[in-house]
Amino acid sequence: MARLERQLPDPKELFSLLNFPLPSLNRRDARLSKAADIPDLRKIAKRRTPKPAFDYVDGAAASEFTYRRSREAFDSVELIPRVLAPTPNIDLSTTIAGKKTSLPFGIAPTGFTRFMHSEGENGGAAAARRAGIPFSLSTMGTRSLEEVAEVSQEGRRWFQLYLWKDKEASLDLVKRAWDNGFDTLLVTVDTPVTGQRLRDARNGMTIPPKLTLKTVLDASYRPEWWFNFLTTDSLKFASLSDSATDLPSLINNMFDPDLSMEDLEWIRSVWPGKLFVKGVLTPEDALRMIDAGADGLVVSNHGGRQLDKAPLSIQALPGIREAVGPDVEIILDSGILYGSDIIAALALGADFVLIGRAYLYGLMAGGEEGVTRVIEILEQEMRTSMALMGISTIEQLKGSGQVKPQWDSQVKSQWRPTHEETHPSPLR
Ligand code: GLV
Repeated sequence: MARLERQLPDPKELFSLLNFPLPSLNRRDARLSKAADIPDLRKIAKRRTPKPAFDYVDGAAASEFTYRRSREAFDSVELIPRVLAPTPNIDLSTTIAGKKTSLPFGIAPTGFTRFMHSEGENGGAAAARRAGIPFSLSTMGTRSLEEVAEVSQEGRRWFQLYLWKDKEASLDLVKRAWDNGFDTLLVTVDTPVTGQRLRDARNGMTIPPKLTLKTVLDASYRPEWWFNFLTTDSLKFASLSDSATDLPSLINNMFDPDLSMEDLEWIRSVWPGKLFVKGVLTPEDALRMIDAGADGLVVSNHGGRQLDKAPLSIQALPGIREAVGPDVEIILDSGILYGSDIIAALALGADFVLIGRAYLYGLMAGGEEGVTRVIEILEQEMRTSMALMGISTIEQLKGSGQVKPQWDSQVKSQWRPTHEETHPSPLR
């Protein structure tokens, strides 16, 4: 063993090593600052939220196979570094749907949000406003268009519409959305019926939650959630007036298997702003939506929550980009948990990304501040990766070729748009 020359510690050096930070007086801040990534926030969320609400967010359809595969695909992506390529000013701003955004991602529309945390959509909208990114309100949101507009102020807000047969009701919603400064409509088309959410069925999830022995026991170790829940205005669907309380009937009343391209055309004719069709996974459907007048697409498998074993949005993306060409804006969602996932999506053909689960993990972990922490984490992860890749801007990233998916050629050929002639658009 090598001999060590020992000496007495130098008090000056010892002093400089001393680091006892003062404990934060704000318990929420202390909790959130310990979360180093989104999975850390997920763990906090799980501890603090009743199981049916947490599982509603965390779960997916059926075997949850698509969601698991999305994570495997994102995890397998390779980012290629570039050394001695200085990036003194990394700029993550870009434009989407005709306006600037500080970061290339925004908040996805989510239903029942006040069930996850009493601040609900207001927490998300306030965090998005402060970060300078768009916030999307869902038709199944638990704050109204008017309430969200008030919180979002000068911030950008989008509205997600489930088209349903009641045209009057749809028209009323989109009018209110436009009058309240929502500049972009996301029309969700992948929900003719709801996916089979087995966790919700097993948990017997109802809205509002029923006070059973199980929920009372749950309240004993999640006191803050229950205190907030019982001391704020009762949970209702701010945009809907449906009184069904069990989740499948509520969703099924909303989702409509009879919708067709004519319904999309109709909504296009009454909405004056930008319109993106959400839930497209094949080049054929992408082209049909553009033919019907969509300004852009959201390539999405609904976070793996609808058709289990559906294609992965990140794998479908290059084929769809090839089919629609460079000028149609594409947003991607489903499975995004890391800044590197956003980098992969942008480099493989997307212009923008939406975060759903990641946002809700933050909300459940700590309301508005939790959402702000999510945004900070994703931004920092993007900045670090881009510095290591020698890339300074979103434009540079898009054209860099420095993201290597492991599935590339196989999937691209599978989804090439081959049958445009044999399946002409019904709208032509
Ligand atoms: C609703 O959009 C859901 O995915 O639960």
